[in-house]
Amino acid sequence: MKSSTSFTLLALTSVVTGFPAYGTRMPLLRDDLPAGTPEFSSRDSDPAVGVFQAPNSTDVRSPCPGLNALANHGYLPRDGTNIHITDIVSQMDSNLGIASDFGLIQVAGATVLGAMSIIDGLGLGLKSFESLTESHNTIEHDASLTRDDTALGSNTDKNQTLIDQLFSYSKDNLTLTPTDIAEARQARIKDSFTRNPNVTLHKLQTDACWREAGLLTMVLGDQNGNIRLDWAREFLVDEKLPTDLGWSAPSPAHGIIDIEAITQTYTDLGQSLNAADGNFPLEF
Ligand SMILES: *[C@@H]1O[C@H](CO)[C@@H](O)[C@H](O)[C@H]1NC(C)=O
Ligand SMILES: *[C@@H]1O[C@H](CO)[C@@H](O)[C@H](O)[C@H]1NC(C)=O
Ligand SMILES: *[C@@H]1O[C@H](CO)[C@@H](O)[C@H](O)[C@H]1NC(C)=O
Ligand SMILES: *[C@@H]1O[C@H](CO)[C@@H](O)[C@H](O)[C@H]1NC(C)=O
Repeated sequence: MKSSTSFTLLALTSVVTGFPAYGTRMPLLRDDLPAGTPEFSSRDSDPAVGVFQAPNSTDVRSPCPGLNALANHGYLPRDGTNIHITDIVSQMDSNLGIASDFGLIQVAGATVLGAMSIIDGLGLGLKSFESLTESHNTIEHDASLTRDDTALGSNTDKNQTLIDQLFSYSKDNLTLTPTDIAEARQARIKDSFTRNPNVTLHKLQTDACWREAGLLTMVLGDQNGNIRLDWAREFLVDEKLPTDLGWSAPSPAHGIIDIEAITQTYTDLGQSLNAADGNFPLEF
């Protein structure tokens, strides 16, 4: 794993220029850093690591509930800044159950799309969750299940009305099935095409829509992909890992094969719901 990790990340260096020199190559991974380098992450020095604490007024959060939950538990820096890629990948793996093969591709993609940068000359990471907020139409996109479209409101702050709309698609008011989530997704797409003259849902953005639905299902769903509503409420509203309600991070973590399979399920459901709903001009 280690060698493929280094290989993947080294392949990225060609897309970023102006790396400060360190030794013979840029230390991209935490393990590459010289002994005695202060940690980027507050994780190792935070006595309350794992304990949920809602963000305060200066903590920065992202459009992504999963990353926010990791920060709210101190698995990533609680202030939402200087987040090393190694921490993102390893914390997604151990505390969300999303394996590092998938996580590495995500951070590679985020690097190519310009969201990652060099933190104080020490390695690659997110200077702040804000760079995900600023990534409209590259990483962050319209028709989110929980955030407003950028042209209509905040693409970072949760919108409780939208979250309630998502939950209203539960037919038994106890679980969200993949079909429920796909129907809620289509309602958001329809809403964006109806109200947002700037709506942009080309293939890059729609792929993100289906993959995020897949990730929600992977993190919270049972073996049939059904998500307990009380777990979804804690995760999406409080951005809290619902361990107090009996959830634990899937172990072993879900790898890329599982994630792409559920993403394909959402793509297929999305395609047939969109066809039945008047064929909004999405790219699949
Ligand atoms: C918010 O918490 C951060 C740690 O995440 C701390 O550094 C900062 O001083 C706090 N800000 C306020 C306004 O309490
Ligand atoms: C929406 O589109 C218009 C016209 O292209 C543009 O002037 C405006 O800046 C866009 N607004 C946002 C928030 O993207
Ligand atoms: C939240 O979403 C609803 C429904 O789309 C919208 O009417 C409302 O303006 C949004 N609220 C905020 C604070 O953006
Ligand atoms: C669904 O359940 C929640 C709490 O479990 C309750 O507050 C809400 O009123 C219920 N909604 C419906 C439509 O029954």
